[in-house]
Amino acid sequence: MEEKNKQNSEKKLAAEKAVEFVKDGMIVGIGTGSTVFYAIKKLGELVQNGLNISAVSTSDSTTKLAGAEGIRLINLDKAVRPDINIDGADEADRNFNGIKGGGGALLFEKIVALSSVKNIWILDSSKNVEQLGKFPLPVEVIPFGYKRVLNIFKEMKYYPELRIKNNNPYLTDSGNYILDLHLEKIEDAGILDKEIKLITGVVETGLFINIADVIITGKNNSVEILRKEKL
Ligand code: 5RP
Repeated sequence: MEEKNKQNSEKKLAAEKAVEFVKDGMIVGIGTGSTVFYAIKKLGELVQNGLNISAVSTSDSTTKLAGAEGIRLINLDKAVRPDINIDGADEADRNFNGIKGGGGALLFEKIVALSSVKNIWILDSSKNVEQLGKFPLPVEVIPFGYKRVLNIFKEMKYYPELRIKNNNPYLTDSGNYILDLHLEKIEDAGILDKEIKLITGVVETGLFINIADVIITGKNNSVEILRKEKL
């Protein structure tokens, strides 16, 4: 319980620091998850106090939360290029690579991230890693014929597991399945990403390589900010 409280307080610190990067008039991409929740709350508070922003959501759950906070939402094709995108991650290394998709929103998150001018990740300190792979790597796959993809991963010794929710396959917002790969260690994220994406039936992987520009990690009562370049 104490560990959970610490994580939540670090998530909140990181999220509120990220919101400081948001300026009046910006289009803001908003990721998904329990860390982003705190960013949405803070943005909502600022919007109530007059901040003028539009936001692009990455999931149905974020759309609901942001809408309830009175944040104006526009769709990505109207926004084209959000100025800034704030998202969480499941693991991040110091080379700005990470694993996302624990919350199942990796596809829309990656599309919004790649469309955005700057990407900020917000983390609690348990998610900083030397090497990616302890967290199971989510891979979004088309339901049709997914067992073929599952078997390919088995043969590759990637230890795939179909994600289940309420006794049924978990469905993403696009109606796809997720296979979580229990890799333990990823030697070269770039090579792995390319290899997986060549398999027919795979929609996207949770490997986010060199997409984040700034990583904000809550560490006890403060934050560490890792910047790829000045923001
Ligand atoms: C959802 C994600 C989330 O950003 C990631 O799972 C982290 O979530 P949380 O902030 O709840 O720990 O990638 O697809």
